Order: sequence, then C-alpha cells, then structure tokens
Amino acid sequence: MAKVLIKGGRVIDPANKRDGRFDILIDRGKIADIQPSIPANGSKVIDADGKLVAPGFVDLHTHLREPGREDKETVESGCRAAAKGGFTTVCAMPNTSPAIDHRGAADFVHQEGRRVGLASVRTIGALTKGRQGKELTDFGELFDAGCVALSDDGNVLADGMLMRRALEYAKTFERPIIQHAEDPALAAGGVMHEGIVSVTLGLRGMPAQAESVIVSRDLALAELTGGWIHFAHLSSAISVELVRQAKRRGVHVTCEVTPHHLALTHEAIGEFNTHAKVNPPLRTEEDRLALLEGLRDGTIDCIATDHAPHTDWEKDAEFDAAPFGISGLETALGVCVEALIKPGLLTWPQLVERLSTAPARIAGLEAGTLSVGAEADLTVLDPSAQWTVDPKRFVSKGRHSPFAGRVLTGVVLRTLYRGVEADG
Ligand code: DOR
Repeated sequence: MAKVLIKGGRVIDPANKRDGRFDILIDRGKIADIQPSIPANGSKVIDADGKLVAPGFVDLHTHLREPGREDKETVESGCRAAAKGGFTTVCAMPNTSPAIDHRGAADFVHQEGRRVGLASVRTIGALTKGRQGKELTDFGELFDAGCVALSDDGNVLADGMLMRRALEYAKTFERPIIQHAEDPALAAGGVMHEGIVSVTLGLRGMPAQAESVIVSRDLALAELTGGWIHFAHLSSAISVELVRQAKRRGVHVTCEVTPHHLALTHEAIGEFNTHAKVNPPLRTEEDRLALLEGLRDGTIDCIATDHAPHTDWEKDAEFDAAPFGISGLETALGVCVEALIKPGLLTWPQLVERLSTAPARIAGLEAGTLSVGAEADLTVLDPSAQWTVDPKRFVSKGRHSPFAGRVLTGVVLRTLYRGVEADG
C-alpha cells in the first residue's frame, strides 16, 4: 500500500487542539506523521492547499435499514452516502426487521460493514426485545457484540420503571441509554409540530411537551440511578433548557441535534411537503434558535444526522400516510455551514468537534481524532465551494430532502477511511 501525503491543508483536530497548516503522512492505513512540511519521497500526494482536513465525521444516529428493508437502504448504500458526506463512522440504529436486539443481528451488521469497507459501521442495540417496550434485552450480550449504546429509537421507552432498570443496568457497562423522547399519548396521531402551521394545514400536531415531559422524567431517573442518558435528536427549546439545568446539577446527560432541526422550522412543510416530515418534527423559530444556542454553549454535545431513508413510493404519499424521515448524510456538512458557520455561531474547529470528536467520545470509540498512530479516517473539505442539493443524485437509496434545490456552501472533496479513498 503506497504512502499517502495530504499536503498543505488547514488541519483541524480539536482532540489535539491543532488548527494550522500541516502535511499529514499516511502509512498502512494509519496516521504516520504530521508536520508543517513532509517531503513526498514517492508517496501519493493529495494537494489540500486552501482546503480543510478534519477527522472523519462520526454519526451517532444513522438508519441503515439492514436487515429487512434493503429497498430503503443497505449497509453498502448507507456507507457510500456516509463517505460522500465526510463520515467515516456510522452508528446504525436498531429499528430494523428483525430488530438489532440480539447478538446475531449486531454481528451481521458489523460483518456487512467490514465487507463493504467504506466506513466503520457500529450498532446501537435495541433496549427492549423487538423494540416492544416490554422486556429489556440482554445488555451484556449486545455490548459484548460491539454495540456502542442501546436505544429503541423510532419508539420511546415509555415505561418509567423499565427506563430506571435500563439506566442502572447500562451503568455497569459505562454506556449510555439513548432515548427517543416522545410521550406516546401526547404525540398520538401527530404528523408534525403542533402550532400555527399544523392548524392552517389541518394536520394533527405533536406539542413540544410530548418531548420535554419524557426529557424531564428521564433526567430525574438518570439523577436517581447515576446512569447515563443520551437524548436523540432534541427539537424543542424546553428540552434544551431542561438539559442545561440538569448538566449544572451534574446529571450524567448528553444529547444530540440534527442539521435539519438547526436549519429549518415547521414552515418548511409549506404545502404538505412530505420530504420535510420527520420525527421529532421541525418546530418553531424560537425552538430552532434555542437549539443553536444549546449547541453553541455546550448544552447539546454533538450533531447527528438521523439519516432516515425511505422509498419514493412511501415518501411521495399523502402527508398523513408518508413515513417520517429525511436522508441526511450527504447534506449534513452543507447544512451545518449554512446554519452555524455562516452566521458566526461556531468556528470551524468547534463544528468539527461537534461532528467528529464529541460523537466519538459519546460512542466510546477511538475515532474523531488525527493523532499520530490513529486510524487514517479523515475528510478533506472545501469550506467555500457552493453546490445545489439535488436528491436525485444522492448515493443513498433515500432521495428525500427538505433541502432540495437549496444552494449550500461546503463541499466534501475526499473521504479517506483507513487511509483509502472511500468517496461515495
Ligand atoms: O424521522 C424519523 N425517522 N424519526 C424516527 O424516529 C425514526 C426514523 C426512521 O426510522 O425512519
């Protein structure tokens, strides 16, 4: 395997507090050296002059749909989308068919990830058997199989006693329980945020409190047990404030936000645009601003895509019938640049920290860094190039995005996984 030299880029590595012009030498899939100048000596040279070089992004929340719904996505197509978006690690959610609630299913997804070889594929095991919310899975077996966390994502774990036990049980493994915070009764039948837009369109809404009452309960349970709660895709101002206060009290809580919740509001649904139908729903401008501030001040730890691909026939149905979900891996960087870099809310090192370093830490992975000796998982970005989102050109099988037609800034030029180009 020839050595690779990435030359002259602005290297941003928050884990090592590095931000400057460096050359990176890659040898046998690992980062061999980082210096202001390294001679080529026969290495394959990638010219990164004027570009950013960052640790590959780590997605804590990806729906790869395998096993069971290969018409929506496969490990392979999802990994191609990841590479195109600058991601070198994806954590696959267990709402598959069958659910990733036992070792065999986790092993299958991990093996498939290794076979494809375009990104590190990890799994989040199911919290309850069949994701039915009734009986906890065998946590020891799932963590032993390599799951990085446990969640019934797509469904809330509504039973407070089971959540208490889950937090206690997961604590012994020092791993988080990821909650999809949604009170089933308050959200029942809802297809979008409950507010002026849902009333105007005549659609049933889900109030922000459907999320925040579960956030509040689970923070109390994390406090009671000392367990680690991680909230998926936070969407409301009230939830952000609850987490902020809990962190001040020392509760073991982390949380994520999606690019679409940072960039859009319920207005994006316009005239029944199912491509903006997502759960939790896009909410108000006040909520969006609170999410931005939460991410800026550290209340929200990281960005996760909630990449949720669906088929055309499902998504292009009437609004009530269409499934929730946005194909997010390929637009994540551009949306984050629009929502965070352009308004001056985050610097590039801060954005890279929230896309790479922080999610790797939460997943307990040795990723999200460009340390010498680390796997050469990295992405080369053009921070100022513009492109127009055309979902028909997505490599994901899910070609639905509320950003269709939008001009975004920030292009992923190359993604290297274990030192080899993995671009979609
Ligand atoms: O929009 C969503 N899509 N939210 C979820 O919680 C599940 C996901 C999916 O699996 O399609």
